[in-house]
Formats: sequence, structure tokens, C-alpha cells
Amino acid sequence: MLEFRGKQLYITDTILRDAHQSQAATRMRVEDMLPACEILDDIGYWSLECWGGATFDACMRFLKEDPWERLRQLRRALPKTKLQMLLRGQNLLGYRHYADDVVETFVQKSIENGIDIVRVFDALNDVRNMETAIRAVKKSGGTVEAALSYTTSSVHSEEYFIQKARELKTLGADVICVKDMANLLLPSDAYSLIYKLKAELDIPIHLHTHNTAGTGSMVYLAAAMAGVDIIDCALSPFANGSSQPGTESMVAALRGTGRDTGLDLKKLNEAASHFKTVAARMETEGLISTKVLRADPNTLLYQVPGGMLSNLISQLRQANAENRLEDVLREVPAVRADFGYPPLVTPTSQIIGSQAVLNVLMGRYRSFTKEAKALLRGEYGQLPGEVNEDVRRRAIGGDEIIRCRPADLIEPEMGKIRDEYGGICRSTEDLLSCALFPQVAPEFIRKRENIHEIVVEWDGNNI
Ligand code: CO
Repeated sequence: MLEFRGKQLYITDTILRDAHQSQAATRMRVEDMLPACEILDDIGYWSLECWGGATFDACMRFLKEDPWERLRQLRRALPKTKLQMLLRGQNLLGYRHYADDVVETFVQKSIENGIDIVRVFDALNDVRNMETAIRAVKKSGGTVEAALSYTTSSVHSEEYFIQKARELKTLGADVICVKDMANLLLPSDAYSLIYKLKAELDIPIHLHTHNTAGTGSMVYLAAAMAGVDIIDCALSPFANGSSQPGTESMVAALRGTGRDTGLDLKKLNEAASHFKTVAARMETEGLISTKVLRADPNTLLYQVPGGMLSNLISQLRQANAENRLEDVLREVPAVRADFGYPPLVTPTSQIIGSQAVLNVLMGRYRSFTKEAKALLRGEYGQLPGEVNEDVRRRAIGGDEIIRCRPADLIEPEMGKIRDEYGGICRSTEDLLSCALFPQVAPEFIRKRENIHEIVVEWDGNNI
């Protein structure tokens, strides 16, 4: 008889965000989501993760959808369920650090438009990069779920994560999330970490993993036994492989145990059958590669999360060097060690990955990307472990290293953004889109408004 600590286990479904970000290049459209919302809203999830991460960028860049409008539509269609988003702390949903006033405005608008729970994380677990976002969520009345970016290295001990969790609770976290984006957490380590976090902190603990290496559902079972409060699952049509373990499978596995989720498999099946159709269409459109559906234990060897792997392959393809993939995968842990063991998650996964590609193609540390230099200069915050000083010197020479909270060096930006984009923007939300994605958003907004004008003109001609 398995022994389970805790009461009912709660489930967050990632079907509207991480599931299709991990399996279908973030290409699920709001039209694919809305028909299922009534059923989803009736299931009784702890929350539905539906916004943030890469969805914001993908909406404008590929789907020609306004991300803010998507959020408002989902809010209207899901009146009973808490809506959750993923936010990269001071990075928001972009790829650099923004000034505090941008972070504050972005968080305020996210909550105003319908978000209830904000999962805030920082790629380096530098809590100074999470402070402003956490404070802003609290100020707007949202729930703060502060996340630890899980990784393994000589500096990432259990005590390290427990200490970070304590700091995050002090900063105001309502929930602590262990974010195992690359499925590196193994079942017995999950048991031990969750058990200790539960003993240390009197707030809910939420676990996020993927099934990339094929161990995800075992990790959840171990965590359920240790007393984890909430787990992230995905409805079966977009589950497993580089996505989350399947919701229905976890619900079935825990039925009748002390951690019964109380969710109705029939209702889940009804929701799943809608997404089965969506997945089938995406497969015929070539948006789902069979690679992401299979478990790949290599992730445990190289610590390369699924999204990063496909980036590496496409970078090598551009350089006509696809045959060097194995060399690059072997180079990633070496670069990571030289850079002080950052966890590999956006944006550090891209930075370390690109540097590994450069090292393999041009010779080790013959050249550095702009972002790699910035990371070594401390622009992203404090690197967790010791940096290889020879490598740092080669990259940035005698440049001064930033030791303070990086955002303290960024002047307020909202005024500048308003001056630059105010002419084309209709709302503060539009301004924020431009601030985060200056290469994509202004053009998107211009086109959106033009389309509107054409429609009006056409109507006029017909009167
Ligand atoms: Co994830």
C-alpha cells in the first residue's frame, strides 16, 4: 500500500499554454480554445494556465492575434476558473530586462484584463529580478506564485532551493512553484525536496514538470506521496513527450488514494476530444513534430530542454552543420559550467545554446554573442556559481561587473515608449506590446488598424 501525505491534490491544466508551447510551437489559436471553454470551466481545476510564456510573442508574430484580446476572450469564456500566466520576472515576456515602471504597468494590465495567478520566475533564481513583479501582483490583488527554476549542479543543492523558497515567501509569495522545465527532477529527489519544502513553509507547493525524459508522471506520483499541493498536467491530446504528463492519467492514477483529485474523467474526456481535433489539424499543418511526442532521456545527460534542442538544430541547419549536433550537445554542459551553472530556461537556454554552437563551429570562445557578454557582465543578475574568470575576461575584457539589482540601472521607460509608439497605439496594452516586441508589435498594430479602416471604407461604398 502506497503512503500518501496530504489531502485532495489540485490540478492546473496547461492545455492553453505550456502544452502547445512545448508540442506545437505555441501555435494554438484562440478559436481553437473558445469552443472548449465551457467544458473546461466546469471541470474544477485549481487553475488554467493560458497566457504568458511564449504565447504573447507567438500571437502577434505568427497568428496575427492580439494577445490582450485573447486574454479578455478567455476571461469571458471561463468565468469560474482561475486564469494563470507565466512571467519571467524583470524580463516580463520579452528577452531583456525592463525598467520597473514597465514591469509594474504590465502586471497591472495583465490582472486588469483577467489574470488571477501570476507565476513569476527568474532564469538565474536571482530573487532581486522577481521583487518588482511580485510586489506589482500583490498591489493589483493577484495571487503570487513564485517559482524556483530547478536544475542540477554542484551549487544547486536541496538546501539552496529551500533557502530561495524562504526568501520568496518573505517577499510575499502566496504559493511556491518548483519549475522543472527540463524534466531533470527525478522521483526520489522530488519526494525529498517537496517533503522538506512542505515541512519548512506553510504555503501551498506547486510542482511543474514535463515528460521530456519520460519520468514526469513518476515525479508527480512521488511528489503526491510527499504532500505536494498542486501539479501541472495537460489534457492527453497535447500531453507527454516535451509537454506535461497527461491530466486524465494522473487523475486516474490517484483515484481512490488519499490524494484523489476529485476530477471527473468523463468531463475531462469531453474536453480532450475537442483538443484531439485541434491536435489532428495541427499535425496535418506540420506544427507538431513526432520528435516532441517521444520521451528523450538525453535531456538528463545534457540538460537541454525540448525547446532549446529544436533551436540548436535550426541554428546548425542555418550554418549547414547539422551533423555537429552531438558536439554541440556535449559543449552545452561545459559552457554552462564556465558561466557559473545557470539553469537552462529562457533566456539563458538560448544564450548558453548559441555560445555552445559558436564554440563548436568557430573554436572555443573565439567569439561571443552580445547576450553571452551581457550574461557574464551581470546584466541578467547574479550567476549561481563561480564563473570561469579566463572566459569572462575574454568576453568582456576589463568591463565592470554589475553587482547590484540590474534593473536599478534602468531609467523609467514608459514615457519614452509613449513618445515613440503613442501615435499608433490605442491603449496602454498596445504600448506594452510595443515595449516588449518592438520588431513585431508596431507592424502588427498598424496592420490591425488598417484592416479596420478598410472594413469601414468598404461599408461606406455599399450604402
Ligand atoms: Co514548462
